[in-house]
Amino acid sequence: MHHLNLVKMIDFPQLGDERGDLIVVEGGQNIPFEIKRAFYICGTKQGVVRGQHANKKTEFVMINVAGSSKVRVMDGSGNEAIFCLNKPNTGLYLPNMVWKEMYDFSDDSVLLVLASEHYDAEEYVRDYNAYKDIVAVNGNSI
Ligand code: TYD
Repeated sequence: MHHLNLVKMIDFPQLGDERGDLIVVEGGQNIPFEIKRAFYICGTKQGVVRGQHANKKTEFVMINVAGSSKVRVMDGSGNEAIFCLNKPNTGLYLPNMVWKEMYDFSDDSVLLVLASEHYDAEEYVRDYNAYKDIVAVNGNSI
């Protein structure tokens, strides 16, 4: 299967009632991995592009719990897809070894990122040519 085909939007159930909304994300349930880490990106300035890396091991789910942003994913073989995150009840699943760039953050954007692994700088590929070389040799499934 083509690796970018594994990238997908996930809808989370709304458990809200007349008091307001409540959305649950649960590792191994509606998140397709056990969650080891969460971080959030907020206060991003206009025109900033974040990410610009691939992870050898970590899978992610990204959720704009407030505001909006866009995510461009690339597979290193010339294929790309763009996703707009603008609802707190949808997330974007990213397998390992896809190149990702986050951009067009709204001023009120809070991008919550759930990760399958603890932070390890060694498993980040931050150079796109290096990423393409790894994909050329190993495919996207290392
Ligand atoms: P970076 O990977 O550049 O952020 P983004 O993917 O959003 O563009 O991370 C910024 C800094 O924060 C960098 O020095 C690494 C550090 N960092 C951690 O220490 N732990 C983490 O879980 C993350 C995501 C980043």
